[in-house]
Amino acid sequence: MKRTVSASRSFASDNNAGVHPEMIDAITAANQGHVIAYGDDVFTERAVKVFQKHFGRDIAVYFVFGGTGANVLGLQAATKSYNAVICAETAHINVDECGAPEKFTGCKLLSVTTPDGKVRIEEISHFMHGVGFEHHVQPRVISVSQATEMGTVYTKSELKALADFAHRNDMLLHMDGARISNAAVSLNSSFREITKDVGVDVLSFGGAKNGMMYGEAVVFFDRKLAADFKYIRKQGMHLPSKMRFISAQFEALLTGDLWKRSATHANRMAKLLAGELEKIPQIKLTQPVEANGVFAVVPRKYVPVLQKKYFFYVWNEEISEIRLMTSFDTTEDDIAQFVQLVKKIVK
Ligand SMILES: Cc1ncc(COP(=O)(O)O)c(C=O)c1O
Repeated sequence: MKRTVSASRSFASDNNAGVHPEMIDAITAANQGHVIAYGDDVFTERAVKVFQKHFGRDIAVYFVFGGTGANVLGLQAATKSYNAVICAETAHINVDECGAPEKFTGCKLLSVTTPDGKVRIEEISHFMHGVGFEHHVQPRVISVSQATEMGTVYTKSELKALADFAHRNDMLLHMDGARISNAAVSLNSSFREITKDVGVDVLSFGGAKNGMMYGEAVVFFDRKLAADFKYIRKQGMHLPSKMRFISAQFEALLTGDLWKRSATHANRMAKLLAGELEKIPQIKLTQPVEANGVFAVVPRKYVPVLQKKYFFYVWNEEISEIRLMTSFDTTEDDIAQFVQLVKKIVK
């Protein structure tokens, strides 16, 4: 659905939001003179140090343009083409990356059914039966999304259980953290507590959904996994020449509390929206609201009427379930207006 540019805000995606003004400031401040391209610059050096402050010094971190690239390249570093990656059926790598993970890693994705976007050990155990048997792909990675694509958040103990299971079975835990900031504030935890400390091996660290213009990071908690990554990133077309503008944004996002302020706000707006929608008898929330997404079944006939004014995605056509995302710039007024319209329509 094409939309012309307007100053209004909708609930389609946190990617539909603009850029946080402090990110624009960071880009402007970095826009002075010449620096060496491809990351050999002072902005990147400082941004790497900020990542090390959050995660510890013994990480390897690489900046890339986007989230699909971060996932694909992180997985590529961790696998061989005869491996398999186990993920939720709803995972972005499974349904929203146009087969890029399969194309670039050569791996088969083994997806598990899940009511809430989370991978559970009970669902993956049966994939472990062909281990060592040359006729079967060999599971190598469990990939989780934190927050999940259904707006839920893994607890630390859920993550630890998955990491322990993976490591016991000679596998790795990959985390698609496109919304890791929303997850961290939801769990009232640091980034490190929900990644390295629970056993995550490779992390896609999201920037764009939390107010950056563009840019994500691939973080390796075992540096050995990153041994060839500089080649993998370049061959995978994700070595930004003007790296300083991604680095400067990450530095600004992660040095103070901007990441936390923005994600806390987005999560709070999602709770507010859900709380208001819950009061409308015709609307049924389908998932707990733990990050910045709200999922709800809305009677089919109302959807196009709402979409005339607000762009959002129907997530599950069969049950007329819609997804509403909030972001750093969602206002209480945006929510009040949307809810008012819903109430008017369903009357
Ligand atoms: C869970 C998740 N992972 C990764 C991405 C990154 O995708 P992109 O390649 O569009 O930056 C997204 C974007 O919607 C996402 O929702």
